[in-house]
Amino acid sequence: MSRASEFVVVANRLPVDRIVGEDGEPSWRRSPGGLVSAIAPLMRRRHGTWIGWSGAPDERLEPFREDGMSLVPVHQSAEEVELYYEGFSNATLWPLYHDVIAPPVYDRAMWDAYVRVNARFAEVAADVAGKGAMVWIQDYQLQLVPAMLRRLRPDLRIGFFLHIPFPPLELFWQLPWRRQILEGLLGADLVGFQLPGAAQNFVRLCRRLLDARTFKQDVFWDGRTVRARAFPISVDAEELGRLIAQPSVRRRAAEIREDVRDAKLLLGVDRLDYTKGITQRLEAFGELFRDGELRPGEATFIQIATPSRERVEQYQLLRDQIEQQVGHINGEHGEIGTPVIHYLHTSYDRPELAALFLAADVMVVTPLRDGMNLVAKEYVACREDLRGALVLSEFAGAAAELKRAYQVNPYDIDGLKQSLLDALRDHPAEQGRRMRSMRRRVLEHDVDRWAHDFLAALEEPTPPTAIAREAV
Ligand code: ADP
Ligand code: F6P
Repeated sequence: MSRASEFVVVANRLPVDRIVGEDGEPSWRRSPGGLVSAIAPLMRRRHGTWIGWSGAPDERLEPFREDGMSLVPVHQSAEEVELYYEGFSNATLWPLYHDVIAPPVYDRAMWDAYVRVNARFAEVAADVAGKGAMVWIQDYQLQLVPAMLRRLRPDLRIGFFLHIPFPPLELFWQLPWRRQILEGLLGADLVGFQLPGAAQNFVRLCRRLLDARTFKQDVFWDGRTVRARAFPISVDAEELGRLIAQPSVRRRAAEIREDVRDAKLLLGVDRLDYTKGITQRLEAFGELFRDGELRPGEATFIQIATPSRERVEQYQLLRDQIEQQVGHINGEHGEIGTPVIHYLHTSYDRPELAALFLAADVMVVTPLRDGMNLVAKEYVACREDLRGALVLSEFAGAAAELKRAYQVNPYDIDGLKQSLLDALRDHPAEQGRRMRSMRRRVLEHDVDRWAHDFLAALEEPTPPTAIAREAV
């Protein structure tokens, strides 16, 4: 591999997953999740290199180009997938960083694998990056990479962005490897978070746990200044605007409406994840039929759930729970040919998603905790017609920006029911006012602006530490 790239993105996953069809032929499919949705468009425009995993165990692939991007695969053995990806990343860090909604697993073998795989990513990045290049490391799976990479290549400008929440001191303190994680992140020049509160949590932890000197949102560490800042991520509003202008997408939206026979359409689109509050929203919706507030045929819910992390126990439990719940609600309240919930355990392409967004009267986004939630912003970006209503959890990062959504506490089922009814019944003029205000925010603060703000901050020279220290 040559040291050529001036701009390198390092993420656990490549933006495409390798899949093998029924005919045995391999092909590439877009990877799930918000990280890929946000960074793929930017990578096509900048001519950078993306380092990541192909999504399959034990696969050693050569660097290649796909969909206008230059991709460098990093391999993971089956055991590493189990211990590093399913284990430390998604059974330890994911629940810990999401308010401990599920109990985190603390396992030393998982930690060892996390260290090993992070070191591998750092070595590949050190190989690929050109002299003085900018390297942008993504998300909770790779928190040790900044410090590991700095040791290998002190000439690089290193940025890190966390796509999920960063927990308060009281929760982070549980982690047996809390020191190592903080020291890993402090290898970056700039550590980005979704919300200012997360950046504050990080700085406070550095002070309390590492005894680091800090000033506002700067941490002085190892003779350097590390800046912690908030950069709320967003969507590619232009791409979505182009999609909804396509006649085929508009036709498809009309077909979806015909399929539900003009019932009011509520929509949920998520990875099948216990942080997303899917059971809470379905419970609230089901109760509206029980209470006689809604009748079958009057309103219907389409819940699309992309399969995710299917070998992790908590995800298997959730899938069973949702499938049982959907069966129960349809059994109680559905009629022949008129189920009240359509549940689809699958992933869709962008045009189909855009058509669904256009067809939905109410978009229901109710995470119990979410770094941002791009689906909420995608819906708003697609509603150029100023129709439709967004029901949005207060616990989604997006709630800080989308103040005119119907905001809900997803733990409060009665409150959730009332918000669903308000969103369904409010006058279109009121919905239009809300949507206009939310669109202004999303269109002005799109993913380009997010990336530009982060990278501009990363390029800014950091003040010499000695001077900064005197400021304390
Ligand atoms: P997360 O990163 O936790 O998955 P986000 O809401 O931030 O959550 O991002 C999810 C991304 O994945 C969005 O861009 C959304 O459109 C996409 N997505 C979610 N569910 C599906 C699905 N069933 N099919 C295709 N894309 C999906
Ligand atoms: O943003 C959260 C995130 O975990 C991303 O890092 C990831 O790419 C996406 O969700 C999907 O998760 P996974 O890669 O585990 O399928």
